[in-house]
Amino acid sequence: MKLFSKKKKEQTQAMAVPTHIAIIMDGNGRWAKKRGLPRTAGHKVGAEAFRTIANYAKSIGLKYLTVYAFSTENWKRDREEVDAIMDLLETYLRELIRDMDKNRVRFCFFGDLSRLSPELQREAKETAERSAGYDGVQVNFCINYGARDEILRAARAFAAECAAGKAEPGDLTEAGFSNLLYSAGVPDPDLIIRPSGEIRISNFLLWQSAYSEYYFTDTLWPDFGPRQLDEAIAAFNQRNRRFGGV
Ligand code: FPP
Repeated sequence: MKLFSKKKKEQTQAMAVPTHIAIIMDGNGRWAKKRGLPRTAGHKVGAEAFRTIANYAKSIGLKYLTVYAFSTENWKRDREEVDAIMDLLETYLRELIRDMDKNRVRFCFFGDLSRLSPELQREAKETAERSAGYDGVQVNFCINYGARDEILRAARAFAAECAAGKAEPGDLTEAGFSNLLYSAGVPDPDLIIRPSGEIRISNFLLWQSAYSEYYFTDTLWPDFGPRQLDEAIAAFNQRNRRFGGV
């Protein structure tokens, strides 16, 4: 864990920054509705909120930031809304690729990208490959991601190894199973944040969150900024993590 200090009201607060924070970027639709705007306007401001948080995460020395941008269940939404989110992702990735060397942010993608447009798949691949050597925060972007789907895929992959005679069922360990997930090599999230007042986990990082601390806030995602992230980190600093010990 890294320490960072911020001048706040004449007082310097030292806070330990967790290694890995994960966020469910929820509440874009309600944010727009409250203003009489179409839901897609909320996603647009939500994308800006993400950009601000990713830069802030880098500035405070966070190592991993995992964000839920589109779930395996989100396809059930109106075609128009799904298309708008996909367009936003495409535009965002295009800009990201352009500004890549300045950003130094490493991008990874968790989820089944094969259902995305060929253009989006190509941009995601290019972003991941070009940023692989950067040393800033690692952003794990979850698109067409569902934790149950992730676990099923890992189980199938191991079953296939057994069927091919390369492994025995008894060989499987927790660490071995973790390595079959999209998040292979990434430490489990220390803190999972859900804005927008919903108190549920919605199929996000079910395996990886075994000992994560949760933080729920009523703030809607488009209004979530560095101050709200500081508050979540401050709350995390008050928690006593025992990982099942005493
Ligand atoms: C949840 O809010 C949000 C989503 C399903 C999409 C999240 C997408 C973005 C933040 C934009 C894409 C990101 C980038 C960086 C291009 P909701 O629609 O479920 O809101 P509601 O619960 O108020 O209806």
